Amino acid sequence: MNTINIAIDGPAGAGKSTIAKMVSAEMGYIYVDTGAMYRAVALYITENNISDENIESALKNAEVSLRFKDGVQRVYLGDRDVSELIRTPEISMAASRTSAIPAVRARLFDLQQKLARENNIIMDGRDIGTVVLPNADVKIFLTASAEERANRRYKELSEKPGCPSYEEILRDINERDYQDMHRETAPLRQAEDAVLVDTTELTLEQSAAKITEIIKERI
Ligand code: DC
Repeated sequence: MNTINIAIDGPAGAGKSTIAKMVSAEMGYIYVDTGAMYRAVALYITENNISDENIESALKNAEVSLRFKDGVQRVYLGDRDVSELIRTPEISMAASRTSAIPAVRARLFDLQQKLARENNIIMDGRDIGTVVLPNADVKIFLTASAEERANRRYKELSEKPGCPSYEEILRDINERDYQDMHRETAPLRQAEDAVLVDTTELTLEQSAAKITEIIKERI
């Protein structure tokens, strides 16, 4: 079967996952969040106190898989659903660090390519258009200013107790952008044939509508 593959890349907090979910529901595609896979590996490494030099061999025991329930992705470590546990600031930072390790990337690359071969998908991440799916039917590079991304994150977290300050969130975003863009293997960058969408001045609905339009024009 020839499947349709849409790649969405961009920095942390640009709205990739929310927008990709909206667009995939509209198009009837499966949404694959590759960041969740890196987060699951980071959780495994953190929980088991694995040191950098042992990561490659320990990876054999980290069974990361995705399951889809009513079209919604859940991420598993072995038989354990870790979809919520991976959403902490500590795991965000750990995922950014461990995703720079080539052995970690190689492991998840195979899993991601298999999903794309077998399904019509919208896949989001950092290197989907450049490395994982270089022949994707449509590539989008989704971005927004660091200040706007921090602002959105702050609004999202400010209802919960123990919310970090806006300055802390902005610092984390800048640190993660820097790490993701400057690593040697598969750094975050816009593919030459990707369409740039800047959502700084757009609502989620406007961003999703724009991306749906770009996809429909091209397939
Ligand atoms: O999209 P996210 O914030 O859930 O991703 C967590 C980290 O995983 C991010 O800082 C970089 C890494 N990542 C990556 O290197 N390649 C991908 N395709 C997706 C995520």
